[in-house]
Amino acid sequence: MKVVVIQGPNLNMLGHREQNIYGPMKLEDIHKQMQGFAEQNGIQIEFFQSNLEGEIVDRIQECMGEANGVIINPAAYTHTSIAIRDAIAAVQIPTIEVHLSNIYQREEFRHKSLIAPVCAGQITGFGPFGYHMAMISITQIMNEIKAMRDTQQAQKAQQNLQGN
Ligand code: DQA
Repeated sequence: MKVVVIQGPNLNMLGHREQNIYGPMKLEDIHKQMQGFAEQNGIQIEFFQSNLEGEIVDRIQECMGEANGVIINPAAYTHTSIAIRDAIAAVQIPTIEVHLSNIYQREEFRHKSLIAPVCAGQITGFGPFGYHMAMISITQIMNEIKAMRDTQQAQKAQQNLQGN
């Protein structure tokens, strides 16, 4: 099973950027923690960061047939990007939206997420720990889907046997 983690604009600046809001942790350290969780749980993981909307759309599209789950922090594009929302809806891969800060406690323009309605869920306000929560959640979702597919396959095999 594979998870792709997509990080939006300015998240490459974590550790430098508005530390009072986003804290001191660098993106690569968050990713190291996620990598650790993935290894412990036998999950393949890949990380992608871009400051460009179109590149994020491309990466989401590439997940088709490649990833079983996506974790995305679309950063500022959360509040503006119909293109990213449409890409997530198009690929139909379970996706979890993460924000370090609690977007509902901040400026009004951050209260609206265009992305949340096409995601399995949203985690907001727990700092870097939110990514760990997202790993737990996406693992649970991927396991449930796998169990469902395995059951369906077993039922089909049983039906074929009975038909023969
Ligand atoms: C953010 C919240 C967004 O509103 C903001 O534009 C970001 C980071 C967060 O993780 O808290 O860049 O997604």
